[in-house]
Amino acid sequence: MKIALLGFGTVGSGVVEVIAENQESINKRAGSPIEIKYILDKRDFEGQPINKLIVKDFNSIIEDEEVEIIAEAMGGIEPAYSFAKAALARGKSFVTSNKELVAKHGAELLELARQNKTNFLFEASVGGGIPIIRPLNQSLTADEIYEITGILNGTTNFILSKMKNEGRTFEEVLKEAQELGYAERNPEADVEGYDACRKIAILASLAFGEHVNFEDIPTTGITKITEEDMEYAAQMGCSIKLLATCQKQEGGIFARVAPSLISLEHPLAMVNDVFNGIFVKGNVIGEVMFYGKGAGKLPTASAVVADIVDAAKHKGTNIISFWNKEKLELKDKGQVKV
Ligand code: HSE
Repeated sequence: MKIALLGFGTVGSGVVEVIAENQESINKRAGSPIEIKYILDKRDFEGQPINKLIVKDFNSIIEDEEVEIIAEAMGGIEPAYSFAKAALARGKSFVTSNKELVAKHGAELLELARQNKTNFLFEASVGGGIPIIRPLNQSLTADEIYEITGILNGTTNFILSKMKNEGRTFEEVLKEAQELGYAERNPEADVEGYDACRKIAILASLAFGEHVNFEDIPTTGITKITEEDMEYAAQMGCSIKLLATCQKQEGGIFARVAPSLISLEHPLAMVNDVFNGIFVKGNVIGEVMFYGKGAGKLPTASAVVADIVDAAKHKGTNIISFWNKEKLELKDKGQVKV
């Protein structure tokens, strides 16, 4: 099974590492050997073995019938959106870690995948290495999900944790998060809450089956949180976390991203550093919590490679049910900068 990788940045290079590290078990699980045939990247990687796989033109990938799965780790809407449409229209599976793409065009791309009997998979787009897309789409489908509340951004959780526990400054910890490969290229997306907003929009769309527009979710980031806020929170027996939530209530759906006080006894208060925690409530199962590394090269690559394996295993059958393109009206409206 030949695959192409779009982008050789933090996540893309992680994908190469994960496949090399676990090649044997990955091949067994996929049902055939997984081989990277191309890597699309603008740069050259002289002296590195992957340099022979580098191509600059997407056409050489899309025109190659041997390539059955395309994994995208470039980020941003374009050209990822055009590449996804072209791949799915030709029956190639498209796997992505790109939450901007999924939040904006997920419904349309899932529908296109369904029409072409192929797969659009995006486990890595929310929660890094934490399995959350599959559980919502498969294991929890007997339930009516009525609430999802989570810490969905590793960078801001890392910053808040270090500010609280080590008394370090916002700027200092943000710099460290960037160096560790947690933050977005433009960290404004993390610290202003836009990244968490897109992720909760994806989860809400999957859980409620209709398109939740991320631009309708009132969003506040963590840039105004001070050391004094941290002290007051501690005096109240609370922690400050950037929580993203969507809730089905009487009269409609409500969603929000905001720094929130959370009791130190709540399991989400114990989610520290780059970890994410996602609390899901269903009318049958009750409460379930998902926990793990929400950002970083290898955890995110682990989810991308798992999608590649699934796409190989389920070639020709569509495995993620799509959400309706109709826009779901939220109770509270607000704007998030794109
Ligand atoms: N910048 C994101 C985060 C990366 O910090 O959570 C993972 O989506």
